Amino acid sequence: MSSPQYTSSPPASNPLEGRRRSKFTFKHLNQLSTYSTTTPLRTIAHVDLDAFYAQCEMVRLGVARDQPLAVQQWGALIAINYPSRKFGLTRHITAAEAKKLCPNIVCQHVATWREGDDTWAYHDDAFKNMGTHKVSLDPYRRESKKILATIKESLPPPPLQRVEKAGIDEVFIDMSAQIHSILLERYPELARLPPYDDLTENLPWPSQSTINWEADALVDLEAEELESDDPDWDDICLSIGAEIIRHVRKGVWDALHYTCSGGVARNKMLAKLGSGFNKPNKQTVIRTRAIQKFLNDFKFTKIRNLGGKLGDEIVAAFGTDLVKELCDVPVEQLQKLGDDTGVWLYNTLRGIDSSEVNSRTQVKSMLSAKSFRPSINTFEQGVRWLRIFAADIFSRCVEEGVLENKRKPKTITLHHRQGGTTKSKQALIPQGGLISEELIFDLAKSLLAQIVVDGRAWPCSNLSLSAGGFEDTITGNMGIKGFLVTGGQRPTKEVVDSSEASDSEEEPPTAKRQKIDVDDGIRRFFAHPSEAATSTHNENQATQARFPTETDVLDGIYICKKCSKPILQSDAGEHEDWHFAKNLENELRQEPRPAPVHQVESHAKEKVKEKTKTKRTAGQGHQSTEKVEKGQQRLRFGNG
Ligand code: CTP
Ligand code: CA
Ligand code: CA
Repeated sequence: MSSPQYTSSPPASNPLEGRRRSKFTFKHLNQLSTYSTTTPLRTIAHVDLDAFYAQCEMVRLGVARDQPLAVQQWGALIAINYPSRKFGLTRHITAAEAKKLCPNIVCQHVATWREGDDTWAYHDDAFKNMGTHKVSLDPYRRESKKILATIKESLPPPPLQRVEKAGIDEVFIDMSAQIHSILLERYPELARLPPYDDLTENLPWPSQSTINWEADALVDLEAEELESDDPDWDDICLSIGAEIIRHVRKGVWDALHYTCSGGVARNKMLAKLGSGFNKPNKQTVIRTRAIQKFLNDFKFTKIRNLGGKLGDEIVAAFGTDLVKELCDVPVEQLQKLGDDTGVWLYNTLRGIDSSEVNSRTQVKSMLSAKSFRPSINTFEQGVRWLRIFAADIFSRCVEEGVLENKRKPKTITLHHRQGGTTKSKQALIPQGGLISEELIFDLAKSLLAQIVVDGRAWPCSNLSLSAGGFEDTITGNMGIKGFLVTGGQRPTKEVVDSSEASDSEEEPPTAKRQKIDVDDGIRRFFAHPSEAATSTHNENQATQARFPTETDVLDGIYICKKCSKPILQSDAGEHEDWHFAKNLENELRQEPRPAPVHQVESHAKEKVKEKTKTKRTAGQGHQSTEKVEKGQQRLRFGNG
């Protein structure tokens, strides 16, 4: 027998030859395990608590699930539970208006720090005392931590787990690696090597013949399209993702009695749209093949950042408010809105978003702030607020384990706003001894004294104190400390966003709050960043657009160059998104104007897409509502 002769064609035949193959490749499958943002099998979830602050109060007060309840901050309502939404109540109406519409409603005021107290509490008279009380969101932050811990416990440990806290009541979960491991367990055909070790080979067709979507609201194809549409691996990934999220949500309910909603889709933007699509206490899966159909049914003016003036301008420019119709417009034409705006809009309309889910761990800094209307005018007044800030920050340090010397801040920074100028002064915390509230207070006072000595300090419209330079501790387990994150909330909720991380309340919550005067120019904060222990931001000093660099940041907090507000660095992206969206609006409003700096726009563009959230209103997207099926749905698989 002669030894085998190798010819140009390989000796073994391709075992998948002639069989029906998936449109996805072994490479796509492998990429799941590394959280690649380019694999079409990528599976992302967004989980968002229903009427979060309101649910916190319901659980704390032990009221019945069907009791209408709202959370009040000063005169306005900032969270409305679902039973009260039936009465037509919406966020930001006054407590008085709410009681007219729903006499049975419980309006619970948020907890506050009262001047002179060393802890926050629920004060019955808080709403009358805006001048001497400061909002505390600690109760919600605490619940948020518990919820995060529960969510993380219901997932396998890293590296199969990747969770990003995206706000006080929401997370993104990249389920790709977990799903990869589940796929290999459940589908032995996937565990085999690809023919000829060629990763570009298509995967075999899935061996199982049904997908059970269970109770998920499924955004699916039209009935006639479904006839010829057999579920492929992307659908299997989504259905496993839906299983995971059902389990996560059940875990939160069982452990803590909070309901939340979920979205499962191939990217963050769509997952977030999904979680808001069918609230409360439901989850929505957006089949990859149905993405365009899903988006088509939205009015784009309902998509976040496309409401308001920008949306109006687009309607005026293209004569439609429908995603579907705007999709017919070539990108070159959309670019008459501005090059970047056009590209951003083009992608957004198509559900394109490759932004990553970033797992974040521990807090690096904390901020306590108060805006004054009217402004304050004396050192004594300032000191009274510093007392509260010190107590607030100290109590949060205690939660971080400062008393056990687990974690400790290195610096205390005071931000002071007077007229158009924000000044920051920083002090080092002596290392060695234990940190105390008194120490924080003393440092803060001396920083304020320095600002007063330096020059014009009054009238002062905003003061904030931050503690920074917390070092990460090494945590092998996924204990609660691992979840102490200060993720940003929606960039449009400027006030509440910073509150989440910082309890800065700015002013009573009204719809007007969101209409912040955005200065289009991009500013630099530090004159000499590298040596800045004292920093002044002059609003008349325009320079380059960019994200804060290391040198702009004092312990994880920087002063936004556009609005002069102190922002946690971890929230920089979201905060910039908000400005980006405002700039888009301005771009349209003020044409002709100089082109925005590209670098920031393109980054923000990505982020804005990722944060875009929309809720479909009743009566809108009529066609698709009939297609959003609840209850069990079985999909036919092909015969292969
Ligand atoms: N929040 C706020 N002011 C805003 C937006 C949000 O104070 N402009 C607070 C709310 O009190 C809310 C929490 O942040 O409970 C989370 O906000 P969001 O998820 O947007 O709304 P929910 O109240 O949770 O309602 P939904 O069920 O629609 O998510
Ligand atoms: Ca929510
Ligand atoms: Ca939310």
